[in-house]
Amino acid sequence: MKDLLIKNARPYGEDAVDLLVRDGVVVETGSGLSADVDVLDADGAVLLPGFVDLHTHLREPGGEESETVETGSRAAARGGYTAVFAMPNTDPVADTAVVVEHVRRRGEEVGLVDVHPVGAVTVGLEGVKMAELGTMARSRARVRMFSDDGRCVHDPVIMRRALEYASSLDVVIAQHAEDHRLTVGAQAHEGVVASRLGLAGWPATAEETIVARDCALAREAGAALHVCHVSSLRTVEVLRAAKDQGVRVSAEVTPHHLLLTDAALTSYDPVNKVNPPLRTGEDTKAMRAALAEGVIDVVATDHAPHAQQYKDTEWAAAKPGMLGLETALSVVVHTMVEPGLLDWRGVARVLSERPAEIAGLPDQGRPIAEGEPATFALVDPDAVWTVRGAALASKATNTPFEGMRLPAAVTATVLRGRITMRNGEVQA
Ligand code: DOR
Ligand code: ZN
Repeated sequence: MKDLLIKNARPYGEDAVDLLVRDGVVVETGSGLSADVDVLDADGAVLLPGFVDLHTHLREPGGEESETVETGSRAAARGGYTAVFAMPNTDPVADTAVVVEHVRRRGEEVGLVDVHPVGAVTVGLEGVKMAELGTMARSRARVRMFSDDGRCVHDPVIMRRALEYASSLDVVIAQHAEDHRLTVGAQAHEGVVASRLGLAGWPATAEETIVARDCALAREAGAALHVCHVSSLRTVEVLRAAKDQGVRVSAEVTPHHLLLTDAALTSYDPVNKVNPPLRTGEDTKAMRAALAEGVIDVVATDHAPHAQQYKDTEWAAAKPGMLGLETALSVVVHTMVEPGLLDWRGVARVLSERPAEIAGLPDQGRPIAEGEPATFALVDPDAVWTVRGAALASKATNTPFEGMRLPAAVTATVLRGRITMRNGEVQA
């Protein structure tokens, strides 16, 4: 079943080739290949390594009204993803080996995408007592990334110890950078739009100051720090300085922070509520430039499904978060490829190669070549489609891109030689 012939695919948008896959591995590339196996005619689509999302909320266990490992895996396969990192802010929190092993096992049972559980840094995400990182790292789930995402590890003593411990375990601490003391009651980016709407502001400095502190702590610990969902142009400058000084820091930006601004808030539609908040046009411009330059390493979705009852409410009561898995590639093409900031090699770098490197995945984000795993996304670069939340595979519908016409579509996803999605149909 794992033998496959992919015909007429253009690796990184270059010349078309055929690829013969046996046992999940590319064994031959060339033109005019034939074999008595299943054929996937790519029809000239761009062939990229399968996408790796460092930041996904799958909501299982405990939030199954919004998403499950199964529905989230289906959304991932439709988006061209072959690996996702499932954030631990579930109920119960993924702060023990039992919970991370459960999530990992559910991912394997569904079998559409490699589901890597992220372990909590602190017990119950409460920021008080460090969770047993070593036990989770050594468990069957082999946790490689830890985060209290949704909340910031605010206590510098705990953050310092977590980084020291992470360094000895060779794992990554992913920080949701938000100084909660500066964001009490915050509902929107602190700026003119928030003032006009009468919403309490979330100042960009609440992100910038935590990132600056954490870079100093990571340097001292010799640890790998990953900064989640960078949203502010000032944070980019902090990251640039830290990287110049050799700090082991990586960073992600979400599709929504590449495309949307707080101007969207004037509708008061809570679909636009997200944490960190949508910021200004200057910030989106800085995010794009930093991603092109590599100061921001990767695009991560922060796919945050919320059932309708959590969004169909007044702004202040609505939960923050947006869907991302099924629209990420198109938003990256729209914001980065169309303006000439990234080519297809660059897309492979930010959606697949760098995320796999940061998380230490040996068999994802690999070159497209003989002897390498057949783990791919196929992209029709000429497609144009209209986003409809109701038509997405995710259980929730909270896409901020509703009704938008976006370029490029993922036409097939292949995980170790197995087709997981073809023309929008998930192959369970
Ligand atoms: O908007 C957000 N939603 N930001 C977070 O940090 C958490 C996430 C969620 O879990 O819904
Ligand atoms: Zn977060």
